[in-house]
Amino acid sequence: MINELLYYDAWLSGLKPRSHRLAVQDVALSRRKQGFNSPWEYHLGCQYKYQYKIMPFVVTENCIKCKYKDCVEVCPVDCFHEGPNFLVIDPDECIDCTLCEPECPAKAIYPEDDVPAGQESFIALNAELTKIWPVITVRGEPPADAADWDGVANKLPLLER
Ligand code: SF4
Ligand code: F3S
Repeated sequence: MINELLYYDAWLSGLKPRSHRLAVQDVALSRRKQGFNSPWEYHLGCQYKYQYKIMPFVVTENCIKCKYKDCVEVCPVDCFHEGPNFLVIDPDECIDCTLCEPECPAKAIYPEDDVPAGQESFIALNAELTKIWPVITVRGEPPADAADWDGVANKLPLLER
């Protein structure tokens, strides 16, 4: 059974039909609401059987000092945590729904396997700061000078914890 699931996972990795992906995310969402957390979800209710690896999204460097927060309210599972000048995504809560990525005006959000070269450390940083910072669910106002910092390179030293 597991082999069969893995086979379909491999087969689907290049295809990931949107309808299947949404079905699995729907299951993941309802299971999160029941308090069950797993990086793997299984989709058995259609013609294909496969397991789907939840791929967390990651907030990267350009969010620092921009913190537009457009991303916050679209998240169905309240993954975002807020620090003084940066937001992070809880990798254990993210269900890979992709909704936040296009919302970010600073283009700072990426799937974990697509984080830009040189920013891989933000994967661990999101996981680390999630444990320290509170959840944010309401958008609020961005910093007044957010646009001035959008696209500025090497902002990591400016991160406030
Ligand atoms: Fe939330 Fe973005 Fe993850 Fe979707 S992809 S669950 S919006 S953090
Ligand atoms: Fe940051 Fe973009 Fe959200 S700048 S706060 S990840 S909308």
